[in-house]
Amino acid sequence: MDETAPKKMIQVEGLERRFPTPDGKGQTQVFGEVNFTVAEGEFVCLIGHSGCGKTTLLNILAGLDVPTSGHVIVDGKEIDGTSLDRAVVFQGHALMPWMSAMTNIAFAVESRWPGWNAAQVREQCQKYIDMVHLTGSEDKKPAQLSGGMKQRVGIARAFSIEPKILLMDEPFSALDALTRGSLQDELVTICQATNQTSFMITHDIDEAILLADRIVLMTNGPEARVCEIVENTLPKGRTRSDMHTHANYYPMRNHLIEFLVNRSKTFAEEIAADTFDPLNPPVVRPSAAVSEVGAPSVSTSELSATKEKRAS
Ligand SMILES: Nc1ncnc2c1ncn2[C@@H]1O[C@H](COP(=O)(O)OP(=O)(O)OP(=O)(O)O)[C@@H](O)[C@H]1O
Ligand SMILES: [Mg+2]
Repeated sequence: MDETAPKKMIQVEGLERRFPTPDGKGQTQVFGEVNFTVAEGEFVCLIGHSGCGKTTLLNILAGLDVPTSGHVIVDGKEIDGTSLDRAVVFQGHALMPWMSAMTNIAFAVESRWPGWNAAQVREQCQKYIDMVHLTGSEDKKPAQLSGGMKQRVGIARAFSIEPKILLMDEPFSALDALTRGSLQDELVTICQATNQTSFMITHDIDEAILLADRIVLMTNGPEARVCEIVENTLPKGRTRSDMHTHANYYPMRNHLIEFLVNRSKTFAEEIAADTFDPLNPPVVRPSAAVSEVGAPSVSTSELSATKEKRAS
């Protein structure tokens, strides 16, 4: 075992989920043979087409659903149901409509630290309300908040319980581009400040390039597979306003677009090949060193693909 390797906070091993068919006579496999890890402090995004099983996978990581087979190990222990160690930000804000922003967050904080007095709870809530720039809106109920503000409350609530893992299911997809951008910036700042281990589903390629250290690619369902893991070759500290100027931006972007537009449909053939090992999906590092900047090719064949090393 490599002692210098960062600790694995999430280990997904041989995960499979089947659902009964509508006639109740058979079963459909949504996905299978899903293997990947998320290291401590790492930000991993999952990209795949609608219906490939992303939310199902995230629900299993959250403990809201159980796999048909396989395991999810968090911080060395197999998960068993939900836990305050794993906070979820849902696509919809999922706030309690009769509670103010402050009380929605306080509800989570009180569950996490039942012995805290009112002042301690308020201080913790205020810290995260301030962090997502909602100062002054503490007493507003969800109906009095804009879509972006509601998502901010959801994010503040998730961070306020200081979870080991933050799970996010397309948290910004319903927002306009401007609001999405500012929330992405806030997320980057908070994740870096807290070294937050994060797993996020997104359809937005630029969002993945901005946020993720690694991007897990899933083929179309049913019987979806993790077909590839893309390492982000842009340097840490990238921002929305400068990342497109980096030489590796277009190779990254084109590789992901090529996957979504073409390969996600045809990958069934690739994974049927003898060389495909679901335990070690290919790891790809799209880079300007192998793809010309400015006129990037959509071909991925020249990109270096190596097997992910899985420490035993
Ligand atoms: N409880 C369930 N019973 C039966 N089938 C289900 C159930 N939940 C999900 N499915 C099916 O599993 C598949 C994956 O659904 P899921 O919501 O995980 O997709 P997704 O990748 O998150 O899609 P989207 O990008 O549209 O959110 C779909 O075909 C869906 O119909
Ligand atoms: Mg979904």
